[in-house]
Amino acid sequence: MNQFFTFEGIDGSGKSTIIDHVATALKQKDCSVVITFEPTDTWLGKYVQHQIKTKSDPFVTAFTFIADRIEHSKKIKEWIDQGNIVLCDRYAESTYAYQSVQLEKTLKNPIKWLQDLSKGRILNPDRTFYFRITPEKALSRIQHRDELIFFEQQSFLRKVHNNYEQICNGDRFIQVDATKTIPDLTELCLAEILSES
Ligand code: TMP
Repeated sequence: MNQFFTFEGIDGSGKSTIIDHVATALKQKDCSVVITFEPTDTWLGKYVQHQIKTKSDPFVTAFTFIADRIEHSKKIKEWIDQGNIVLCDRYAESTYAYQSVQLEKTLKNPIKWLQDLSKGRILNPDRTFYFRITPEKALSRIQHRDELIFFEQQSFLRKVHNNYEQICNGDRFIQVDATKTIPDLTELCLAEILSES
């Protein structure tokens, strides 16, 4: 039985909206669901949010994202043991895709370095939905936001996108076309989760 589902994609890919819709639909089918997200709303997660807003040291940012996830993994394990389906908005692939761009000038293979740091310390998702969209389309969706962080600049997001394309391959990943309609995307994710849980 698969219970731990993560949702990944660049800023503006629309995954948060779909998670909400999927959770509502699952609850209507009497499933026990927990929605969670990263960075978390713990003090560690809030510290990470501060880091990305102030464009802090990339190593500190990477370490704190991973520390936040190690603690979060423990909570997720509890929710799973209680019989819940856990839907998580961003998880490990976010760190591999984003922080490797921040670390590209200082490390030879930042994605592998970040993966090695995480290995054995975090819970592995059962399935990961990867919301695919071009950085141009994604940015046009979030352009109206009051405050865009530096991760949301086109040149940065393009690199993040390329990383996602490289990482989100293999049996665990379900690639979805993020330009589809909200009902279509909800239905697609819901069907997948119900078939596995
Ligand atoms: P959010 O927009 O999904 O709340 O995420 C906040 C930002 O944090 C988003 O630009 C992606 C970034 N992020 C990372 O850089 N690394 C990570 O590990 C996570 C979880 C998020």
